[in-house]
Amino acid sequence: MIGNAKIALLSEDLNITEKVVQHMQTVGLTVDNVIENPTEVYRISPDVPTIVLLAEPAGSVTMEDLCGALREGNRQVAIILLLKNVNFSVMRDAVKIGVVDVLRLPDEITLLEKVVRDGLRFLNKDQRRHAQTIGGLGSHSGGKVLSFYSVKGGCGKTFLAANVAQAIRLSTGKRVLLIDLCLQFGGIQRMLNLQGQRSIADLDPVIHELDESHLNNILFTLEHSGLNVLLGPAKPDIAELLTDNHVELLLSACRRYFDYIILDLPVELNKVSITALNESDQIIYVVTPDSPALFGLKAAVEFFERYGLAEGERFKILVNKVSKKSDLTTKDIEKITGIPILAGIRSDYKAIKDAVNNGRPLWEKPKEKLWNGVAKDVVRLSKQLVG
Ligand SMILES: Nc1ncnc2c1ncn2[C@@H]1O[C@H](COP(=O)(O)OP(=O)(O)OP(=O)(O)O)[C@@H](O)[C@H]1O
Ligand SMILES: [Mg+2]
Repeated sequence: MIGNAKIALLSEDLNITEKVVQHMQTVGLTVDNVIENPTEVYRISPDVPTIVLLAEPAGSVTMEDLCGALREGNRQVAIILLLKNVNFSVMRDAVKIGVVDVLRLPDEITLLEKVVRDGLRFLNKDQRRHAQTIGGLGSHSGGKVLSFYSVKGGCGKTFLAANVAQAIRLSTGKRVLLIDLCLQFGGIQRMLNLQGQRSIADLDPVIHELDESHLNNILFTLEHSGLNVLLGPAKPDIAELLTDNHVELLLSACRRYFDYIILDLPVELNKVSITALNESDQIIYVVTPDSPALFGLKAAVEFFERYGLAEGERFKILVNKVSKKSDLTTKDIEKITGIPILAGIRSDYKAIKDAVNNGRPLWEKPKEKLWNGVAKDVVRLSKQLVG
């Protein structure tokens, strides 16, 4: 048992069974149900949230069939595959059939506890979504969350998050909130020249009952556009106190009061950033047209697929700093990754440097005439993003 969930092990291989049961005991967890015959999945109780550790079946039953049967029998099930060999295509298939994680045994046995705990988080989240759907709200009801992310620093995440948020606000007039989730050192405060110390950290005492007035107390609002901005603490020691739970509760409250919530994320993947990505309706992966950035992108896609973050239309690639002198064209990147490119933003530091150095967005006021090419690209992108 872990939290409110049971743990079931479905394995024909006695060696694996023994190793898993023993390891779970050493980390203080108990396997509640060991099933040796894969056709007996019905022994997993249909009403109890269950984390299923599913070892590779030896006979004619396929992994896919077993996952299907498990899901048919129990709505609240988190499946973790235990495989002898894992490669990219196996991971891809696993993601497709809705598996929460894949572990290579025996080599990765030490990761078992972590993976089971992640499985519990998945179950809890799934239950919440299910409850919302039953309540008629639908999963992710309310505002849309759009994240800007890249594994490479300096590719323009902060610049784009800030300017896209502003462009969405000015072109749609909807309620837009920009959140700086680079909790340790920030970035948006400088990009938009915001003065003041108010930050997400101030919400800690009210995080479980967040309402509009709490948010209004710490928001910054840009003078000409009305774009709302929520800053992070930009202090590593305070940032450390903010957890994935804070981010989940914050985003869930923000969806109620805003139409679009734009997130600027750090390069580092930790519980906070992964939770934010997981909560996002759209993940805009920023890549620059050079080999190191492409290398990072490939690693990121693998990771995102592994965690089910790249499914459907959610994951999009945006090429920033496009120039004739680049190593790669937008088409090359599309060909190499096999993922369609959302848009390209031209490289023109001269055109943006005044705005960036003075902490101003490229487009400041509603009726302003846009003369610079980067700003035009950003506005086009914003329109694409909001449809
Ligand atoms: N299209 C562009 N053309 C020219 N310069 C750009 C463009 N986009 C961003 N820049 C510049 O690139 C630099 C890095 O941008 P930014 O700080 O937004 O990157 P980042 O990905 O947020 O970096 P970090 O990972 O450090 O947070 C800035 O000086 C910014 O002005
Ligand atoms: Mg940044």
